[in-house]
Amino acid sequence: MTSVGIDAVEIRTGKLRLDLPETFAPAQGDDPGKYTKGLGLTASSFPDVYEDIVTMGANAAHELMERKGLEPEDIGRIDVATESAFDNSKPVSTYIAGCLEQVYDGDFHHANKGERKFACISGTQSLDDAYNWIRAGRNRGRAALVIATDTALYARDDPGEATQGAGAVALLVTEDPDLVELSTEQGYGSADETDFLKPQQQFPSVDGKRSVQVYLARMREAIEDFESVTETIHPDDYVLGPFHTPFPGMVRKAAALAFRHFSRDTEIEEALADEIGRQPRREAFDSEEAFREAAADYTDDLTDTDTYQSWYAETVEPTLTISREVGNWYTGSVHVARLSGLKAAYEDDADLTGERLLVGSYGSGAQAEVHAETVQSGWEEEIEALDVDEQLDARYELTFEEYEDVHDVHNHDEDAGASDTDQFTSPEAEFVFDGWGRMGERKYTYVE
Ligand code: HMG
Repeated sequence: MTSVGIDAVEIRTGKLRLDLPETFAPAQGDDPGKYTKGLGLTASSFPDVYEDIVTMGANAAHELMERKGLEPEDIGRIDVATESAFDNSKPVSTYIAGCLEQVYDGDFHHANKGERKFACISGTQSLDDAYNWIRAGRNRGRAALVIATDTALYARDDPGEATQGAGAVALLVTEDPDLVELSTEQGYGSADETDFLKPQQQFPSVDGKRSVQVYLARMREAIEDFESVTETIHPDDYVLGPFHTPFPGMVRKAAALAFRHFSRDTEIEEALADEIGRQPRREAFDSEEAFREAAADYTDDLTDTDTYQSWYAETVEPTLTISREVGNWYTGSVHVARLSGLKAAYEDDADLTGERLLVGSYGSGAQAEVHAETVQSGWEEEIEALDVDEQLDARYELTFEEYEDVHDVHNHDEDAGASDTDQFTSPEAEFVFDGWGRMGERKYTYVE
């Protein structure tokens, strides 16, 4: 069977940076440690006034097409995943195709375009759609362009404000990919939940503490479901574990539970028994509560062991580096985690070809998905070609007052902000937002 997966990736960060411990924490009256140590974040990225989900997505896609030497006729579908759409009918993919058609001779009239919605997991669902389309043999030799793009803003003073971010990830999905092959096997954990939602409103209604528990519960189900079609996972099976990262502290919690699960009944549990005892088993307790308490105590002890800490440092920590600097990109977040892990491995000269990643996606509402990816021989060239650090370093540093203005600019309900705030950076060789058309559509132009 021909392999299908991600051939190439590009990201586009919002061009503005808000420092969380230095700028945001003092203004909110918070201890900076809540951000750096608790949530694990140092900064959020935001779009400049001429950027939005379309410009970030189109700019990432354009960069990717240029680097891979592609023309519109090479792309057979454009799938956009977003939970920040400004139109309930016309999909963002049509706006992005319209942008790209400004700079290419050909057009995308032959391409199937759509928009996926299921909170953050829709980025991975779009990847699935592309994978299935190629596997079904419907692609006529063409590649799929998957774009996950979001402006993840919360209402001012909502606890979620600490985890904001904005950016896009463009993924090229092909046969015989250069970066990673996707497994056919998947695991799901899905339930009707009200942890985070946007019922006809721009900013989410969030039950933050509950959302953390729902993330962990659905992810556990997805891992068990994945194991039911593959094999019981051992901690050494995967070199990296890129997970959906609303903030790195969330993944820290998930990783501890995952390692406890993966190491149960293995030589690792055996070797740690003298130091921290064996894992509590449900059948040894009279009540669920007593079992949960014992399991939580064991997990705390486990995370203090050298065994856990070296596994975490190698398998999880490298996937969090970019997220710490940009915040939550919703649909793009797990794809940023994959990229972050591969980038760290590239910088460490690691030989990853043939190694496997365990990828965990999550979307509120709620659903988790787990699948495996096998690193392909072209991965180093793909990662080497990226300019992630340059993009992050070039961001404009916002003061708190500027941040307040920028938040208003991107608030659809506040018209005043958009016209009053000057841009902070100058566009160069990129698509920019250029005002509204006669039917209320957003318009875009390419600036040389
Ligand atoms: P909060 O209540 O303001 O923060 O909001 P907190 O008081 O819980 O502090 C956060 C952590 O920092 C805690 O760590 C504190 O102990 C620690 P924990 O106990 O949880 O391990 N802390 C400190 N550590 C060191 N020094 C200090 C200090 N102070 C505190 N001085 C919350 C936290 C996550 C609830 C909030 O940010 C929120 O509502 N975020 C949005 C929702 C979210 O991201 N949920 C994650 C799971 S749901 C998900 O991932 C889906 C999502 O991406 C949406 C989608 O799918 O579309 C969000």
